[in-house]
Amino acid sequence: MPTSDRPLPERSLDPQDWEAFRALSHRAVDDMVDWLRQRDDEPAWREVPDEVAEALSEPLAPGGETEEAIYADFLETVLPYSLGNTHPRFFGWVHGSGTPIGALSGFLAATMNANLGGRAQAPVLVERQVLDWARELFGFPSGSGGILLSGTSMATVVGLAVARHRATGGRDRVEGVQDMPRLVGYTSSEAHNSIAKAFELLGLGSDALREIPVDAEGGLDPEQLERAVREDRAAGHHPFAVVATVGSVNTGGFDDLETLRRVADRHDLWLHVDGAFGAAAQLSPRFAPILRGIDEVDSLAFDFHKWLQVPYDAGCVLIRDGELHRATFESRRDYLTSQESGAASGEPWFCDFGPELSRGFRALKVWFTLRHYGTERLGQMVERSCDQATRLGARVEAEAELELMAPVTLNVVCFRYRAPTASPEELDRLNREILIELHEQGLAVPSPTRVGGRFALRVCICNHRTGPEDIDALAEATLAIGQEVSGLVAV
Ligand SMILES: Cc1ncc(COP(=O)(O)O)c(C=O)c1O
Repeated sequence: MPTSDRPLPERSLDPQDWEAFRALSHRAVDDMVDWLRQRDDEPAWREVPDEVAEALSEPLAPGGETEEAIYADFLETVLPYSLGNTHPRFFGWVHGSGTPIGALSGFLAATMNANLGGRAQAPVLVERQVLDWARELFGFPSGSGGILLSGTSMATVVGLAVARHRATGGRDRVEGVQDMPRLVGYTSSEAHNSIAKAFELLGLGSDALREIPVDAEGGLDPEQLERAVREDRAAGHHPFAVVATVGSVNTGGFDDLETLRRVADRHDLWLHVDGAFGAAAQLSPRFAPILRGIDEVDSLAFDFHKWLQVPYDAGCVLIRDGELHRATFESRRDYLTSQESGAASGEPWFCDFGPELSRGFRALKVWFTLRHYGTERLGQMVERSCDQATRLGARVEAEAELELMAPVTLNVVCFRYRAPTASPEELDRLNREILIELHEQGLAVPSPTRVGGRFALRVCICNHRTGPEDIDALAEATLAIGQEVSGLVAV
């Protein structure tokens, strides 16, 4: 009997009135399409009012509420108060802005409610296909391992877990690492904090991650790396991994992967790459040469949800040695044995390639996004983002009252307003004030950082909606607010 024809009590949690639910769903789609089309008419950010925060802390009603009532609340209390990363003038942190096709595929995935731990189902094949595309894009061999994860933070945990497994000859899973020579790893002083977190989570401790200074080009200094490895060996430690960064969070800097590969080989180190957003440069013929050597690394962590615009969340790790990847995580009990055919077949299962058993269908939004735009258009979008960064860099350099804090690399610009008579501390205060005004007036959302110890306005353009007019508007607003605030803040 079709679900819709069953007597009411058997309908479980499905709607009592399917047609009313259909009407609400259509309305929601219309509302969200309009919302996306009209993002530019809205402020880039607005503060959550107190009454909304209060409404969002009310206790759960045990009796349940109608879909219409909850949807009305969503429109009033949730939708207007996003961080703003779908807005063309959102430039903060490293946030992707999503796409309509990504949103639609999120609905389809949620409706299917697939669990991609494994087993025989098309959604698993979709994830495998997405991973094959990623392998091809980055030059990883067939047979290399891979899995989609929530983001680069988790992808780095998985990549380094495989490195730890290799370094301990597979003993880590049973014995832990406490009775072995200390495993130590290396990364640049510009690396993201997710790498230290991975060391913490893997029981290695963040002290075991040595921060190597950058060289004149801003990449991890290979000579200092080799010296640190030798010192650690001499001290009885076990150097096991180096984590390179392509696209550093603060300034967009790149490590030289070819050189680091040679150093890693000389010292038997695993080479993991954090390519959270910078790996997307691979799609651009103009910028791909920066990533030379990416096809030779041991593991690569990157995000689809940043510069590749897949809606949150969608990260990925690729592991050159697929067998080692599996050996690091494989674990089955009776209730998870697979069969030769039927729903319990379909090996290999993704639960053997990461820490999670139940896994959502995030592959579908990646599949829709890559198929719809194609690598060429996504590559052009990456180049357009970099063009906007170059435009902002040039404008900053042309304005006496603005100052670049670091060379513009790819899509990241760090700059500040300057007032000739102000002390460094006063300039920090002034620029912090400008940042907050830009946010609170809803004009634009750069994020705060420090470059060379000084406060900077950081613009990271991972936003396919950003055009030259948005860049110009940011520069104008910074100048106008800077002039206004420098008269108010004591500089
Ligand atoms: C260079 C870099 N690495 C790692 C991460 C962490 O990625 P995720 O937020 O996807 O976990 C980020 C996030 O911005 C990043 O910029």
